[in-house]
Formats: sequence, C-alpha cells, structure tokens
Amino acid sequence: MRPINGIITLLPVFLTAVSAASILFKKGTVIAYNKQTKGLRVIREGYVLVENDRITGVYDSVPPGRLPPGTDVVDLSGKIITPGFIDTHRHGWQTVFKTMASNTTLLEFFGRYSSFVAPFFWSASDVYDSQLAGLYEALNAGVTSSLDHATHTWSKDAAEAGLNACIDSGARVFWGFTFANITGLVTVEDLYPVFRQMAAKPSLKKSPTTLAVAYDGWGPNPNVAEIDKIMSLALELNASVITTHSLQGPWGFTNSPEDIDALSYLNISTPIVFSHASFLTPAGASLLRQTNQYISITPESEMHYGQAHPVSYNIQDQASLGIDTHITFSTDILTQARIWLQQTRYERYLAVLKQDKLPGTNPMSVEQAFLLATRNGALALRRDDLGGIFIGGKADLVIWDANSPALLGWVDPVAAVMLHASVGDIEAVLVDGKWMKKGGKIVAKGWPAARTRFLATAKRLQAVWRDMPLPPPPAEFNGHEVVAPERVDVLRGPGDGYGNIYI
Ligand SMILES: *[C@@H]1O[C@H](CO)[C@@H](O)[C@H](O)[C@H]1NC(C)=O
Ligand SMILES: *[C@@H]1O[C@H](CO)[C@@H](O)[C@H](O)[C@H]1NC(C)=O
Ligand SMILES: *[C@@H]1O[C@H](CO)[C@@H](O)[C@H](O)[C@H]1NC(C)=O
Ligand SMILES: *[C@@H]1O[C@H](CO)[C@@H](O)[C@H](O)[C@H]1NC(C)=O
Ligand SMILES: [Zn+2]
Repeated sequence: MRPINGIITLLPVFLTAVSAASILFKKGTVIAYNKQTKGLRVIREGYVLVENDRITGVYDSVPPGRLPPGTDVVDLSGKIITPGFIDTHRHGWQTVFKTMASNTTLLEFFGRYSSFVAPFFWSASDVYDSQLAGLYEALNAGVTSSLDHATHTWSKDAAEAGLNACIDSGARVFWGFTFANITGLVTVEDLYPVFRQMAAKPSLKKSPTTLAVAYDGWGPNPNVAEIDKIMSLALELNASVITTHSLQGPWGFTNSPEDIDALSYLNISTPIVFSHASFLTPAGASLLRQTNQYISITPESEMHYGQAHPVSYNIQDQASLGIDTHITFSTDILTQARIWLQQTRYERYLAVLKQDKLPGTNPMSVEQAFLLATRNGALALRRDDLGGIFIGGKADLVIWDANSPALLGWVDPVAAVMLHASVGDIEAVLVDGKWMKKGGKIVAKGWPAARTRFLATAKRLQAVWRDMPLPPPPAEFNGHEVVAPERVDVLRGPGDGYGNIYI
C-alpha cells in the first residue's frame, strides 16, 4: 500500500505545479508582433496563452482545442496587453541617489555620484539594497528587460551583491560586469578572476538574468592586450551582450563602432550596444548596419546632461531605447519613447521651418515609437524571443487598465499607450510568465523587506552625500574649455531665479 499511497499523494502536488504555469488571457486588446511584416498586429478581444515562460498561442477568437489542464483564465475585458519594455542602458545600483542630483552635470556626476567615488562609502549590502529597489522600480514601470552597465563591480563582494539583486528581483537583466580601473581601489586586472567567479554562480543558470560585459576602454587610446583578454573571457564565458558608453565629439570618450572595428571585434556573433552614440559618424552608422549592431538612445539622459543627440534621428533602424541614470529622471521606457517621438518630430519640423516652409506631414508614428521601446531592444540584444507578443516568445507582458481616466475613450491602443498612458495605468507585469506586478502592486515576495532595507540604506548614504562638498567644475575637460550655459529665469525682473534644490 505504501508506495501506491506515495504516488497518490504526490500526484496532485505535481499537477498543481503544472497548472499554475499556464495562463489564458482572454478578451483583451492585444498589441501583438508580426514577425513577417516586422510590424505590430492589433487584435481586439484577443486571446494569449502562456505556458511556463513562453507565449504558446495568440488567437483572434476563442482558442480551438483543449487548454492545458488547470489553466488560469484571466479576463482582460477593458484592458490592453503589450510586451514588456526593454531598456538597453541603465546603472541600476545607484537608486539610493534618487532626487539627490536633479541639476547635476555630467562632469559633476563623474566626480560625485559615479563608481569612482561611491565605493569609498558603500558596502556590498548597500549595492544589493539599491540595485534591488531599482529593479522593482523598473518592473513596476513595465520594464521587463534591462541591459545594466553595472559599474558597481569594484570588488568581488560588491559585484556579487549586485548580481544577486538582479537574480532575486525576477527581472530579465543583462548584467554588464564592468571592467574599469578605480584609482586607489581596483584595476582591470584584479577583475578577471572576479568575472570568472560571477560566471560560475549556479543561481545564474536558473534565472532570466544573464552575464554581459561593460567596457569603456575601446577608444581613443585602447590597451589592446587588455581588450584581447576581456574579449577572450567574454567569448569563453558566453557573455550575452557587450556594451560601452560611446560619446564622440567634445566629450572624447569615443568607444565608437570604428574603434571596435579597428580591433576586429565589431562583426562578431555577440551583440554590442553603443550607449548614446550621440556623435555617430556616417562611417560608424554604416558599420553598425553592416554588422547589425545597435545604439541605445537615452533621450532624457542626453537632454539632461548635454550629450545631446544631433544625429541619432538618422540611425533609428539600428537603435533601441535606454534610461541611463534613473536617479536623475524617469525610470520608464514609456516616457523615453514619448520624449523621443516628440523630439524626433521637433527636429524634423525644425528642419522644414528653417527653410521658411511649413510641415504638411508627420515624420514619426506612434507605432515606430512603440517598436523602438520593445522589439528594437530585443534586436539590439539579439534576442529573437523578446520584445513582442508572438508564438514562441518569452512571456514578458504588461497589462494596462484601459478604462482609467487617462485612457478612457481610446480607439487606437498603440496611441493610447504611447501618448496617454502612464506607469499608473500599468495593472500587471509578468516576466517569464511569472507575475511581478498584479492589481497595480508589486507582488514579488521580496518587495516589502527590500523596501524597508532600502529606506534605511538610502537615508544613511543620502546623508553622506548631502554633507559632501560640491566639486567646482573643472576649467577644461578633454582639451575643451568648460563653461556655464546661459541660465533661464522663470521669474520676471533682474536676478538669478535658479531656485533651490531641496535635499
Ligand atoms: C545645483 O543647485 C544647487 C542649489 O541651487 C547649486 O548649489 C549647485 O551649484 C547646482 N549644481 C549645478 C551643477 O548646477
Ligand atoms: C586600466 O589601467 C591600465 C594600466 O594603467 C591601462 O593600460 C588601461 O587602459 C586601463 N583600462 C581602462 C579601461 O581604463
Ligand atoms: C558556452 O557556450 C558553449 C556553446 O553553447 C557551451 O558549450 C559552453 O559550455 C558554455 N560555457 C559556459 C561557461 O557556460
Ligand atoms: C561579418 O561576418 C559575416 C560572417 O562571419 C560575413 O559574412 C560578413 O561579410 C561580415 N561583414 C563585415 C562587414 O565584415
Ligand atoms: Zn551610462
């Protein structure tokens, strides 16, 4: 009797586990992706079947045949379902600095908030708390995948803490282990074994998080031996992505497609993402197209810091969207897509106005902005299974309350999301078919404890930075004079109405 009993008691447990892994979303407006046309396909009152981590069915009407046993049926009447957003440039560990640097400049940022300063005050557990809170912030905003340029890899403990936070969050993080020298602390050489140790972490295998590489030493003065070593490690350990900060022009940390091509590492099967690429040359753009590598436009960052984006409008076929320092502005790709859509329209219109003519058509559609925020991110990361609702795709999904005051009255769901929705309208988020947000709240088990820990950590570190004197701007940088831009004044009359920073 005993063995049979054993089987009988085991069976229902096994079935429960299977049934919880299958969800049918019914009667929602689905913004699906059509791989043939490479465009969107809107299905009204559509059905999406998710089994485990994958989308296994997308239907215009009630799915034919039997559903997997125990499928949860979720009614999406009055709701819109979209893929999760993809952020291809982020520094997640810095979350504790939120609102502390609202008027900072890029040069001040390096000397005050970057990984060249923070490690002298931060413990590894601070990195964990800050990274985890930042990932819940992203998930809450419907960002299911992010390419993290993880500059917190200044020690084994700090690196591991940030990686553990990615894994514990449940988000899909392309965790870009950063190889950088930090004066007085660590050299690139010290980091080779640390990178190897991170790659060997067993918990990484069971997680949507993957190991990537971030490196800013490609140009203008590359250390070729260092690059060969990093690339051999990246290829040996199957780094999912390689990313770099590319800022030509007066900024001078070029890391351009030309730099990487000159070292014969551009045309490789690993994706390479160039963040900003604000001063991309025509030759660089051509190299990106020939090798199918992408840039990450971070619209708000490039406006906040003055990296600008004088030419990015012309390379949107090899572009994705990113956030950068979410401590200084919005964390959601929806806002980036909206800013970028209107900025592109502005730029193209201005070109017409400058000829003393008037625009008669509109240069960029909401569908294009939506694709940049979703599918183009997947293409940048060379992940054909991401960035859209289609059969075989990963079940990274966002559900919008389309009866909210913001959306009520919509006809076009793409315009509804791109131009009228906000993070507040995001009712639910799934990564790999698992609920991260539900009923408008983060449901990840770790969130309440993470919030408490994060608040204590933030309070302590914010006090340190509040008391840290502001460094004066340097007189020059990269051979260029550093000057104060003309300030605006919203108050009438003489004087400097710049105002206060309330930290
Ligand atoms: C930011 O604002 C504060 C307070 O007005 C000021 O002291 C500081 O110099 C400003 N920083 C920059 C980089 O403009
Ligand atoms: C790290 O330091 C070495 C030795 O000074 C230097 O050759 C190399 O270019 C530096 N790497 C980066 C990424 O700055
Ligand atoms: C890298 O990928 C190859 C081929 O898929 C595999 O054989 C190898 O074990 C992987 N190495 C690591 C360290 O995961
Ligand atoms: C890139 O590599 C592929 C295959 O390895 C090759 O077919 C192609 O011609 C190369 N492209 C460039 C621009 O080098
Ligand atoms: Zn950055």
